[in-house]
Amino acid sequence: MQIRAEQDADAAGVARVIEESFEDDAAGILDVLGRLRATGDLHHGLVAQDEGEVVGYVALSRAWLDARERLVDVLVLSPLGVLPARQGSGAGTALLAAAGEAARASDVPLVFLEGSPRFYAHRGWARASEHGIERPSLRIPDAACQVLLLPTHESWMTGRLVYPDAWWRLDLVGLRDPDLAAVEEALSAR
Ligand SMILES: CC(C)(COP(=O)(O)OP(=O)(O)OC[C@H]1O[C@@H](n2cnc3c(N)ncnc32)[C@H](O)[C@@H]1OP(=O)(O)O)[C@@H](O)C(=O)NCCC(=O)NCCS
Repeated sequence: MQIRAEQDADAAGVARVIEESFEDDAAGILDVLGRLRATGDLHHGLVAQDEGEVVGYVALSRAWLDARERLVDVLVLSPLGVLPARQGSGAGTALLAAAGEAARASDVPLVFLEGSPRFYAHRGWARASEHGIERPSLRIPDAACQVLLLPTHESWMTGRLVYPDAWWRLDLVGLRDPDLAAVEEALSAR
């Protein structure tokens, strides 16, 4: 399996990964990717390819940390998806590591995501609030707003994470009930 930068020719393969891995949420995710691309806010897309087939995808897009000193350019990792038939074989872990490397190579100090601490906590990610960072919405459970600290991170980089417009227009920030309540219950039961 190879991880590489996405190319125009990957569009159908990437759409298939998102449709199969995110099911009912796929249309919104494909829409937000298109909008981020159009505004120049899509920083990086990586595909996992196996025997010519796109089996996984991850995107990094631009956001800000609203620190006291200044706005800091940061990245948001979303979506991360692997074809259901290929899940559990390391593609997700490899895409996550490659995205972290791509962010590091861009000298970005912080990368954020919304996701299950069960998957991300032992892959180098931490709770954003533990580093003085507020989530963009109270509808992202605190434990689900996670951050990857990179070498250019400095201790003054605290404040609120701010998403660009596209995520809000499509109502793709955090969760709404009943999903939110279910995730909060699952997190508190851990
Ligand atoms: C989460 C996901 C990207 C992992 O990809 P993968 O290739 O199966 O991952 P790997 O084989 O590298 O690692 C398997 C890990 O994924 C976990 N996993 C499998 N399905 C998962 C899911 N739906 N949600 C969270 N974690 C999941 C396994 O428990 C295992 O965790 P562990 O190694 O910490 O015990 C993939 O399951 C997926 O596409 N899920 C649907 C879309 C999604 O929920 N994306 C994440 C949004 S935050």
